[in-house]
Amino acid sequence: MPIFKIGELLYFAIEIGLFTGPSLNERKFKLKKDILTLSELESSDFTLLFDRAAALKARYKKGISDRPLSGKSVGLIFDKPSTRTRISFEAAAIQLGATPIFISSGDTQMARNEPIEDTARVLSRYLDGIAFRTFSQDLIEQFAASSDIPVINALTDKYHPCQILSDLLTVIEHKGPCQGLNVAWIGDGNNMAHSWINAAAALGFTLSLACPKGYAPDKGVLAKALEKNSAISVTTDPLEAARNADVINTDVWASMGQEEEQAQRQKVFAAYQVNSLLLDVADKDAIVMHCLPAHRGEEITADVLDGPRSVVWDQAENKMHMHRAILDILLSGKMA
Ligand code: CP
Ligand code: NVA
Repeated sequence: MPIFKIGELLYFAIEIGLFTGPSLNERKFKLKKDILTLSELESSDFTLLFDRAAALKARYKKGISDRPLSGKSVGLIFDKPSTRTRISFEAAAIQLGATPIFISSGDTQMARNEPIEDTARVLSRYLDGIAFRTFSQDLIEQFAASSDIPVINALTDKYHPCQILSDLLTVIEHKGPCQGLNVAWIGDGNNMAHSWINAAAALGFTLSLACPKGYAPDKGVLAKALEKNSAISVTTDPLEAARNADVINTDVWASMGQEEEQAQRQKVFAAYQVNSLLLDVADKDAIVMHCLPAHRGEEITADVLDGPRSVVWDQAENKMHMHRAILDILLSGKMA
């Protein structure tokens, strides 16, 4: 066969996607699925993520390497500090064969007010997925609306969805399926509390939150969740929330961006410390969770954080396994 005929055949094969798969635009369009809040996930999505994270974790522990994202790139845009989320996403991407690209927004044209929509459009042409930590939930939603690639919320002032996904993986490991469990939240009605509320709405576990007056969760988030699960309640009494709890959760009293309120909050939240007296009213096998970073002697005592009921280091580890599952599922387009 003359050489040009072979060339034509090869060209035709590439055109119809025999070697390359669908065209880039088609591929990106099909893969588009975000995790901006947990309220957009069905309970089957949670199950898919838990199962995938558990399977990847088991393989990781056996030393088996999985590289389904070979050749892909993951952008990490962080407008706030991070130890766990940033590094676990970077490690997760590398382990799956992808290349993480850390983007400090201050070093980009975002710092000079390039429209967020234009940034999203441009980054969509370079990358296969983006994890974004920023202040405003509206901003990440605006970004995602103009992005052709999956956008993952790595924490906003309002939500921290990936943290609660990895925390639930930890709950499942220690306590079994979360349906039927009593989960307590002690402290601020903040981004973590909101994502726990969204998860309770989807998964149906009992969630009792104890927050000081004026620091309760967002009314809209709560009302929407209560439409799906009536076993979500808010009190100002930490002992009431912790009574018979299987899981006790807390978080810092002043979140990132609230540093100036630290002194005031220390006074308001003084009665909301997770300590041995609070644990006395919980179930005898209750586990204690904290997403970290923690302030020993403030929201949690050192003996509890470093004690036998604490699962905080498993939580931190599971962020990496859950982030591997999230990247694998979203960037491979496995979540319908
Ligand atoms: N838990 C958590 O999100 O920690 P980082 O702020 O260190 O990412
Ligand atoms: N509520 C905390 C969580 C830190 C991981 C914050 O937003 O700072």
